[in-house]
Amino acid sequence: MNQKAAAVRVFVALLFGTVYVLFTTSANAPAAPPKDHNGVNGSDYAAAVHEVSYRTRSVVCSKYTFLLVVVHSAVRNFKLRQSIRDTWADARDTWRQEAVRTVFILGESEDVGDQSRVDEENHIHNDVVQARFLDSYANLTRKHFVALKYATESCQSADHIVKVDDDVFINLPAIISYLSTSRTKDNIMCNVLKHEFPNRNPRHKLFISEKEYPDNEYPPFCMGMAIIYSRHAANMLVTEAENAKFIDKIDDVYFGGILPRKLRIPLEDLRGKYSETGANTLEWVRSGDARPAWFYFALVWHRPRGGMKHVWMKVRANQRETQGSLLS
Ligand SMILES: *[C@@H]1O[C@H](CO)[C@@H](O)[C@H](O)[C@H]1NC(C)=O
Ligand SMILES: *[C@@H]1O[C@H](CO)[C@@H](O)[C@H](O)[C@H]1NC(C)=O
Repeated sequence: MNQKAAAVRVFVALLFGTVYVLFTTSANAPAAPPKDHNGVNGSDYAAAVHEVSYRTRSVVCSKYTFLLVVVHSAVRNFKLRQSIRDTWADARDTWRQEAVRTVFILGESEDVGDQSRVDEENHIHNDVVQARFLDSYANLTRKHFVALKYATESCQSADHIVKVDDDVFINLPAIISYLSTSRTKDNIMCNVLKHEFPNRNPRHKLFISEKEYPDNEYPPFCMGMAIIYSRHAANMLVTEAENAKFIDKIDDVYFGGILPRKLRIPLEDLRGKYSETGANTLEWVRSGDARPAWFYFALVWHRPRGGMKHVWMKVRANQRETQGSLLS
């Protein structure tokens, strides 16, 4: 996308945002007319400005931060969060210092015990962002929105925002090295999935009604495990989502496919850089795979427990080499 076109789009987005605010705050104005939300039936459109109220909003970025990692985490995943802190997000890693920061995005739990553990956890690590909505599978789209909104508001120096799930190992040296050499700045980078269909089985947990999404096929979209958003893309997505109705559950299709298509934000497919299964990761760690540690950007780790440490050691072993390429 050339810069002029990008600037025009931002301007249009801002203009619409302003008009919308004027429209909805004027006491006598009629309700905003339904708009066709990208094929989603406009008559069902509820004027939804998504206010985010935070229970906890840790400040992690400074003006030197150029990469913010937002980790989608479920309230109960205390151990997964700790594995991440102990491995790829380790704050003691000297080469990163203030340049790369990580926060965990949570909703709220109805369990008082879990909630007090989260408060305690944040007291120690100061890296939790907890918004006031029920942390549930069906609210994942809301969580993704909170992640992007927090990133755009509270980490304004970041060039890129990486959204990951809490069972994913990301290879920060590899990602940073790639970002420092990549030419395009205004896109979204990820493992792009194509020709996926909405699940129309009402009993399935991923069920999407025709009312929510009428088309038979999803646009190409980013697999949710790890998505690299440029700041520009994140800003546009937040502005757009603030004035639209969320499609619940399919947060990756929504923020990584439906909205980018509508906003004409290009997706860069980094498919080969992702290992989608824990089995592949295990094999890679155990074998003397010729592909170096900095080959992969993101790996899923499901089992066994403690596995993230093994991947971390392998990446660490190559880190000196990676640093060399970062500095050159
Ligand atoms: C949208 O909703 C209206 C009113 O309920 C209905 O008449 C129309 O057929 C719907 N359109 C689609 C594409 O579902
Ligand atoms: C999503 O969060 C809202 C706000 O807390 C809550 O009212 C709603 O029940 C949640 N949805 C689901 C399906 O859990």
